[in-house]
Amino acid sequence: MFNSIKLRIVVWFLVVFSIFFAGIELFLYYKLGEVTIHLADEHLQSEVDTIANLMAIEEAQGQLESELQELAAAVTGVYAEKLSGHYYQLISEDGNILVRSPSLALADETLPVYTGSEQGEFRTIIGPGNEHMRLISQSFRFSVGRLTFQAADSLEDTQEVLSSFRNVVLAIFPVVFVICGIGVFLMTGWALKPIRAFTRKIGQITEKNLAERVEERGVAIELKPLAASFNTMLGRLEESFSRQKQFLSDASHELRTPTSIIKSFCDVTLGRERGPGDYKEAIRKIGDTVNRMCDIINRILVISRLDNKTIQFKPVRMDLMDLMKDVLKLIEHSAASKGIGIKLEGTNVFISGDREGLTEVFTNIVENALKYNKPQGRVEISVNESNGGALISVSDTGIGIPEGEQEKIFDRFYRVDASRGITVGSGLGLSIVRTIVEAHGGKIEVKSRLGSGTTFNVYLPKNPETGDAVA
Ligand SMILES: Nc1ncnc2c1ncn2[C@@H]1O[C@H](COP(=O)(O)OP(=O)(O)O)[C@@H](O)[C@H]1O
Ligand SMILES: [Mg+2]
Repeated sequence: MFNSIKLRIVVWFLVVFSIFFAGIELFLYYKLGEVTIHLADEHLQSEVDTIANLMAIEEAQGQLESELQELAAAVTGVYAEKLSGHYYQLISEDGNILVRSPSLALADETLPVYTGSEQGEFRTIIGPGNEHMRLISQSFRFSVGRLTFQAADSLEDTQEVLSSFRNVVLAIFPVVFVICGIGVFLMTGWALKPIRAFTRKIGQITEKNLAERVEERGVAIELKPLAASFNTMLGRLEESFSRQKQFLSDASHELRTPTSIIKSFCDVTLGRERGPGDYKEAIRKIGDTVNRMCDIINRILVISRLDNKTIQFKPVRMDLMDLMKDVLKLIEHSAASKGIGIKLEGTNVFISGDREGLTEVFTNIVENALKYNKPQGRVEISVNESNGGALISVSDTGIGIPEGEQEKIFDRFYRVDASRGITVGSGLGLSIVRTIVEAHGGKIEVKSRLGSGTTFNVYLPKNPETGDAVA
């Protein structure tokens, strides 16, 4: 349920809102309580001051006794009403009640007796009629001794105000809660609209329109990085898709040529009655072409396995000089038949690599050096340490590669001017070479001069770091 961003925002908002609302309301409630009590206290204080002033004046005239009588009897207004909620009383130094307001006397009640200090003391008490009250007790010095005035006012009104405030708040809260909840829900929906639009746009991109991109300009700032990474991913997908397509079409094209050759051999041969020699010749030619097809198919398989990373390289420690000698053994026969001399020099260099993969690499390079060489040409191979790794260089005295095509020879199916007379080949060798070298963390470079020769330099680190393909 909490998988929805919208719901999360709404719930979070409502939780924060409720805490905030409750906090504010509690604060206001207590502030209001404090204010009303403060007002009640001020009122009580002024009452006590008035009475004390009156008595001070009467005392100066020597009529304190009669003033006490008056205070007890001749009071009008709320103080004359029985249990009106407004009371006062006067207490002698030894705690006797000297005077009570009629509101107390008529009901024969008293206020709780506290001989207060001269600054006045305030208390909240349960007074006559079980009412909550505010009580002031303040003492004054007179000629008859220390007298304490006590006055009390009911807090019932105050409490009523407070409780109606509380009731209003409690009634408002659920309404505000629901309204805010709905508001935030709608607003979140509105705020998340760009995400829906973005999702729709993404949803429209399929393998058929991989060239399309999500417009980064219009999207919300927060979605820009997402759009950018999505577009980058699309770019990579598109590239790999079109590479696959290209590869498939190149592969079919490449296989069509030998297939047509075989077909025309068959047609021509079967076109009329022939002698055994002709049939033999035809079958030999067909066999050659099939070999070429096998070579192409094998290479296509290797490439697709390299692409899918289903070939597991197993790095072992080995001597490259030793490996190169093995490679030369494989091809010395074909070198000899072309009259090409091969020179191998350098030192033993130990590296960690996949023996089969690297054999494939150097066989390809050396085979090329023979294939694209001139009759009676030479091939020079050196194996040396370089920059903490190994540098293997293979130079030939062959036909060379034009400047502009030197990078392209590593592309799949790319053959420099396929009509240069050498028909055997698929253009896949060097692309396999480069993939394997790079999977070993190494690199391959070519230097060539048209007509005079080519050098391939392969650099391999001692320990391949990329645990990727060389697992
Ligand atoms: N040593 C070389 N000298 C001249 N050209 C070369 C050499 N090695 C490779 N090439 C060129 O690079 C192309 C690609 O090589 P490669 O991938 O091995 O394919 P293939 O040998 O099957 O044609 C070759 O067709 C050739 O034109
Ligand atoms: Mg080749």
